[in-house]
Amino acid sequence: MTHRPFDPASFKAAMAGLAQRIDECLPTLLPPAVAPAAVVHEAAVHALMAGGKRVRPMLVLLTCEAAGGDANSSAALAVACAWEFVHTYSLVHDDLPAMDNDELRRGQPTTWKKYDEATAILAGDALLTEAFAVVVRHAPTPEVGAALVRVLADGAGMRGMVAGQAADVAAEGQPPDADTLRFIHRHKTGALLQSAVRAGARLGGASDEKLTQLDEYGDSLGLAFQVVDDILDVTRSAEELGKTAGKDADQQKLTYPAVYGLDASRRMASDLIDRALAAVTLFGPSSSRLADMARFVLDRTH
Ligand code: IPE
Ligand code: IPE
Ligand code: MG
Ligand code: MG
Ligand code: MG
Repeated sequence: MTHRPFDPASFKAAMAGLAQRIDECLPTLLPPAVAPAAVVHEAAVHALMAGGKRVRPMLVLLTCEAAGGDANSSAALAVACAWEFVHTYSLVHDDLPAMDNDELRRGQPTTWKKYDEATAILAGDALLTEAFAVVVRHAPTPEVGAALVRVLADGAGMRGMVAGQAADVAAEGQPPDADTLRFIHRHKTGALLQSAVRAGARLGGASDEKLTQLDEYGDSLGLAFQVVDDILDVTRSAEELGKTAGKDADQQKLTYPAVYGLDASRRMASDLIDRALAAVTLFGPSSSRLADMARFVLDRTH
């Protein structure tokens, strides 16, 4: 493998720098609050700015860099933030009483709990819709903008996350089924992560050869991300996670630990990360941060 050894301290520092740029940019991309509807703006800011690892916008930027593009441009940063808008919307709606009925998110009360359900639904709607406006407004060219809109829609919509969320809710309390489980995880979580990688590839002007490899990276990393999320739900506390722990079992969710047990789930996550790492070896040093990100996804504690 051509990667330098994983240096968690150096990656952590690089991530913190990226997270700061992302955190500063996010609120500037929202339209201004308008008095009679100010609560929706406030709720969207609450959901967005409560914290969060910012993995999806980081993936956009790190992939753009790996593809040979300029990840430091303000256009790339804004486009990356659109992926965080969509991810945050998905969390706001995932936490609603009609879905996972959660009261804690990113160490704060969930948006519906702090405001009310209608406000949370609308704040999610706003974040999802504004994400597309951000992409169109900030893409480096109209052609790239149109391609990115398609990538985002495929990751978030009925070809992606929405399909996974629908299947996740339908599978509650149902007999375990490995194919359904894989479908749920690749769609509800994998699709948006993979689309973030695709967006970075498009922004960076990746060659066809790199695109194929990056797709393999995004697919494996995306599935691994949710397998690890399932493991953390079983093994970590609410304090560590910033969200309710142990709730997948309570809600009879179809998860990797429920179907395969913890040890096998860990091995599967590790194998998926190995595949993600193998997919980006041919890039050499420009993809070392993508490799670091893959190791982070496996080793993360929240
Ligand atoms: C949590 O995502 C929900 C999933 C899709 C697994 P993250 O673990 O990325 O949550 P934040 O953004 O850091 O809060
Ligand atoms: C997350 O799945 C999928 C989303 C699209 C938000 P979970 O329901 O497991 O996410 P957490 O554990 O609540 O963050
Ligand atoms: Mg859920
Ligand atoms: Mg949930
Ligand atoms: Mg979970």
